[in-house]
Amino acid sequence: MSIAMQTERLLLRPFEQRDAATVQSLAGQIEVAQTTLALPHPYPDGAAEAWIDFRKDAANKGHGYTFAIVDAANQQVMGCISLNISAEHRRAEIGYWLGKQYWGQGFATEATKRIVRFGFEALQLNRLIGAAMTKNPASCAVLLKAGLKHEGTFKQHIRKWDQFEDLDYFGLTKDMYFSN
Ligand SMILES: CC(C)(COP(=O)(O)OP(=O)(O)OC[C@H]1O[C@@H](n2cnc3c(N)ncnc32)[C@H](O)[C@@H]1OP(=O)(O)O)[C@@H](O)C(=O)NCCC(=O)NCCS
Repeated sequence: MSIAMQTERLLLRPFEQRDAATVQSLAGQIEVAQTTLALPHPYPDGAAEAWIDFRKDAANKGHGYTFAIVDAANQQVMGCISLNISAEHRRAEIGYWLGKQYWGQGFATEATKRIVRFGFEALQLNRLIGAAMTKNPASCAVLLKAGLKHEGTFKQHIRKWDQFEDLDYFGLTKDMYFSN
């Protein structure tokens, strides 16, 4: 399934191989990597190309959907937003990052609101979750502004760069989404 979605200011579309250099340069920023759970740092050569193929395969299999967050005004790729699906539970986890130069303009919130709608209305999921390091208030704010509710704090839940980090978990069920 290859899907593209629009919001007021953004185009969310699947990544293509031509985006690899931009992904490497944005995801390679230390400010982006330091609060994400999965981004390697430094970001190795060839990793963006492999990741784009991997995510395309995941979408074909229905395991997850990843979209480039593109500025609709100039087609610039600014970041990424994903849903990783647990099919058995009709549940998905939201993840995202933006290049540092694009922070603070509401883009992550705008993309997350659209992906929440995609998850419940197009994919008919039962539950969406998101997790952010407690020390990442911008990401916690994005999840709250997209309608997810704070469900708990997991103390020292992950080890990131040799430090144990607390994670805040946020969630929303289909029933909560459609009752609003
Ligand atoms: C998290 C991230 C995607 C946010 O992107 P963004 O487009 O700047 O987010 P938005 O502008 O939509 O919203 C950020 C909100 O956080 C708030 N915020 C930012 N820094 C904050 C702080 N230190 N304390 C409290 N709130 C803060 C902003 O005020 C804003 O809320 P507002 O619009 O109500 O004022 C971006 O910072 C990023 O890519 N970080 C690195 C990667 C990452 O951490 N990804 C998430 C992993 S869980």
